[in-house]
Amino acid sequence: MAEETEKGSSLATDQRRGFLTKALAVACGGLATFPPLAAALWAVLDPLRRTAGAGNFVPVADLNNVPADGLPRQFPVIADRVDAWTGFAAEPIGAVYLKRDKGSETVEVLSATCPHAGCFVEMDRESKCFRCPCHNSAFTLDGGIVAPSPSPRPMDSLECKVDKGGGVLVKWQNFYTGIEEKVARP
Ligand code: FES
Repeated sequence: MAEETEKGSSLATDQRRGFLTKALAVACGGLATFPPLAAALWAVLDPLRRTAGAGNFVPVADLNNVPADGLPRQFPVIADRVDAWTGFAAEPIGAVYLKRDKGSETVEVLSATCPHAGCFVEMDRESKCFRCPCHNSAFTLDGGIVAPSPSPRPMDSLECKVDKGGGVLVKWQNFYTGIEEKVARP
């Protein structure tokens, strides 16, 4: 009888030990996943990260540096950038093509990012068109598709304004690639 009682008590002790071990493992697992989870949440929720230049008017050039000859010129877009943990002051975040017709003060802006998969579109001066080196999409100087083209839509135009001092400001925005619609990324 005493032996049976001893066996029962030993079983109960083993079960308690097993339960405690499992509980500890779950707690440790939870702690181990917390930092990456917190980082992911912070990255998604941080408004600075989501608005790093996006949707803001960014100065990209002086009007005098955009020749009124109907030919697009490439300019870098430089702005402060913030990623999940660090802020970077005045870094290139993209590029645009600015075009001004003869005698016009109006500046047309196209993003240099290819709508197909995001490579940089280059200007082919000889053929007077844009070409993407990645998969051979081609576009007219107004950004229209030259068929056949893997790009599902024309080059993305951007809003632009010229301030009193002649500074050209572009509303910088990235768009989702690979789809027909022009949808701004957050
Ligand atoms: S990324 Fe430009 S053609 Fe594919």
